[in-house]
Amino acid sequence: MAGDIRTVGVIGIGLMGSGIAQVAATRGFETIVVDVSEEVLQRGRARIADSLTRMARNSEKSGVTASAVEQILARIRMSTARIDLLPCDIVVEAIIENEAAKIEIIESLKAMDFEQTLVSNTSSISITRLAAAYSHPDRFMGMHFMNPVPVQPGCELIRGFLTSNETWERVTAFCRALGKEPIFAEDKAGFGINRMFVPFLVEAVKVVEEGIMSCEDADKTTLCLGHRMGPITTLDFVGLDTTLAIAEVLRNELGPSYNAPDLLRKLVAAGFNGMKNGKGFYLWEQGKNKGVNPAVARYRRGNL
Ligand code: NAI
Repeated sequence: MAGDIRTVGVIGIGLMGSGIAQVAATRGFETIVVDVSEEVLQRGRARIADSLTRMARNSEKSGVTASAVEQILARIRMSTARIDLLPCDIVVEAIIENEAAKIEIIESLKAMDFEQTLVSNTSSISITRLAAAYSHPDRFMGMHFMNPVPVQPGCELIRGFLTSNETWERVTAFCRALGKEPIFAEDKAGFGINRMFVPFLVEAVKVVEEGIMSCEDADKTTLCLGHRMGPITTLDFVGLDTTLAIAEVLRNELGPSYNAPDLLRKLVAAGFNGMKNGKGFYLWEQGKNKGVNPAVARYRRGNL
């Protein structure tokens, strides 16, 4: 536990929110998750149950035993009503990477007189601008978890312009209580990690778009760079919509050299979001790669 933090709220039970809720509950925190509909919440709960069951199969490494799975799930309450977050000692916002949507959430918490620590899992949006929508900007900061949250040991902590020392220390202790190593960064577009990493992913799309490499060959850079996952698969894993949103923030705040390529825009416009909806650069079935998306193959032929 992190000092006085007992109850953790998570808004958004997508890829990241479900992982954050899973880790919080595994570490003994009472966890309350809010999303837009019962259906989305049930999908999120199934994702958490599935992940815990897989971890329990390898309990020596994961530390999650089969008998603990039900107890962990029982610590996670779900709701479509934001008011249910009021008892939380900290709330982690993990909805889509859209500044207006995030601000609407923060303002609604303010309107409900929520006054505790509020953190955003944003990948790139200004923490200082988000904090300005809260009643206590000093109690706001960035907590950028890595995907998949139950597996990745690091978490980037971002200090907004007005984040107080008290908040900084409280969130650092919370981060450690979740078993994550804090990586400290200041508030600038993309912070530290995505400032370095997203241009690499975007450049990989340009390499495919310009016909320099196929998706599969671009992914074979794992054989050369020591990365565990190739950049094109990583794009599908992170979400093409999310990566494009981050790239747009980098472009808007750092300049046109960060422009996202046409191919990435087209895929998102056509509804190809990556592994989470089964279609990105590759097609996916239950987490298994089913080959290059024919729309990408056709685009490449037209582009050569
Ligand atoms: P996602 O698309 O998988 O999930 C977003 C969730 O937010 C969905 O369940 C959606 O229903 C919910 N949502 C949307 N509007 C909402 C609202 N007004 N109220 C409540 N719930 C709402 O997205 P993902 O990948 O989980 O990303 C979430 C955040 O985490 C984004 O800010 C993203 O940039 C960040 N992030 C993503 C990473 C990744 O690898 N995908 C890594 C690190 C951070």
